[in-house]
Amino acid sequence: PVHQREFLINGEMRTWNGPTVDVFSPVHVKTANGLERKLIGSYPITTDAEAMEALDAAVAAYDNGRGEWPTMSIGDRINCMENFIGKMLERKKQIVDLLMWEIGKTLGDSTKEFDRTVEYIYDTIDALKDIDRSSSRFKIEQGIIGQIRRSPLGVVLCMGPFNYPLNETYTTLIPAILMGNTILFKPPKHGTLLHYPMLEAFRECFPKGVVNTIYGRGANVVPALMQSGKINVLTLIGSSRVADQLKKMHPKVNRLRAVLGLDAKNAGIILENADLELAVKECILGSLSFNGQRCTAIKIIWVHRSVADQFLSRFCEEVNKLKPGMPWEKGTQITPLPEPNKPAFLTECIEDAEAQGAQVLNDGGGIVEASYFSPAVVYPVAKGMKLYREEQFGPVVPVVPFDDIEEPIEYIIESDHGQQVSIFGTDTDQLARLIDPLVNQVSRVNINAQCQRGPDTFPFTGRKDSAEGTLSVEDALRSFSIRTVVATKD
Ligand code: G3H
Repeated sequence: PVHQREFLINGEMRTWNGPTVDVFSPVHVKTANGLERKLIGSYPITTDAEAMEALDAAVAAYDNGRGEWPTMSIGDRINCMENFIGKMLERKKQIVDLLMWEIGKTLGDSTKEFDRTVEYIYDTIDALKDIDRSSSRFKIEQGIIGQIRRSPLGVVLCMGPFNYPLNETYTTLIPAILMGNTILFKPPKHGTLLHYPMLEAFRECFPKGVVNTIYGRGANVVPALMQSGKINVLTLIGSSRVADQLKKMHPKVNRLRAVLGLDAKNAGIILENADLELAVKECILGSLSFNGQRCTAIKIIWVHRSVADQFLSRFCEEVNKLKPGMPWEKGTQITPLPEPNKPAFLTECIEDAEAQGAQVLNDGGGIVEASYFSPAVVYPVAKGMKLYREEQFGPVVPVVPFDDIEEPIEYIIESDHGQQVSIFGTDTDQLARLIDPLVNQVSRVNINAQCQRGPDTFPFTGRKDSAEGTLSVEDALRSFSIRTVVATKD
């Protein structure tokens, strides 16, 4: 077990003697009381006083833009980050193990999450070098010589999600640090311990006060920070409800920059002429990888009625083959869910659909056992059912039949979300006609491919309640900085 007792404030590792919270793995073990979630560690709960101290340390380190970090050259900041990557690589095994135990991600996906994160940091460093090169150039226009730079914004409050606790947290944290901001970092509730191995590395690699950590439930720790008015950027990968609540707490909300990755209800659309084998393969990946716990997952499938039976029979066949197992076992595809309340919520969604005439089509779909939730394909889902609009964020796949393509398009237009869509079809003219109306609704249209964030050099954002600001390498560097100009007359 990892019993974390330290936290990082102002370059000091503080030892904590106050209350802690126990961390239970979604993986169950046999106990005298039967199967129970395994206790894998504990971490400190930051008090209001320490949270404010951490905030003061970040404010002091930024020092209104005069601190060591915001004034350091980009080259020197990059050196610090390269040092940090080295320490991260040394801790790979420990972090990957914790990813499996803490959130139940398979060994393959946990390793991918780690490697992808390291690659992301290298790509971000390269993009920053480009920014540095272009900001040393001069531009002459209308008799004015100007140099256009990118400068930091101030204090960033950074909170990541449980489903990509390392990767998505670092996709905001790392560019925010690299751009010269100072940070208050709260790891996700499920996915805190895996950040512990890097705590000392933050202390060693960056000047004091650049990264300060806080722990505990966001609802307890974060309000006072927002109300202080000293947070310049709020970055959160999570729910739009929480993001809205936090933003409203800031006394100068119009001055607060928010970089947010939020809710999504991405639709997969299977046209009458789709290559059904391809659609099945991509929809399995899209809707059920990591048990459907991806913001980019396909969370509702619209299928043309003329091919619905054929698609569903093949789709259910493949769903039935998905292999449950321990995260570290070879071939495991379905793992236990880290959020303790999730199985009950998913069951409620299924029962609500069943009460309104839908059915679970696949064998054993929706059975809950020791945090495992066997994937369920629910059909026909219709307006008025929870699964039609609510984001399930789990292994339940609602399927809706349609006769006219206007029906799924109308669904997307009326949605509060606007992240991605996947369309499957073989008529290229028809696909081409659909792209324009769809790119005005979502931020990524996937053709004959699942919804996904990567490659990480592509912009990652969303419309409506799905995002604010843009992530991914270059865009993230922009999100955590402001363009500034140094100008003189020619
Ligand atoms: O949970 C949201 C992630 O951004 C999804 O990323 O599409 O690479 O799995 P992914």
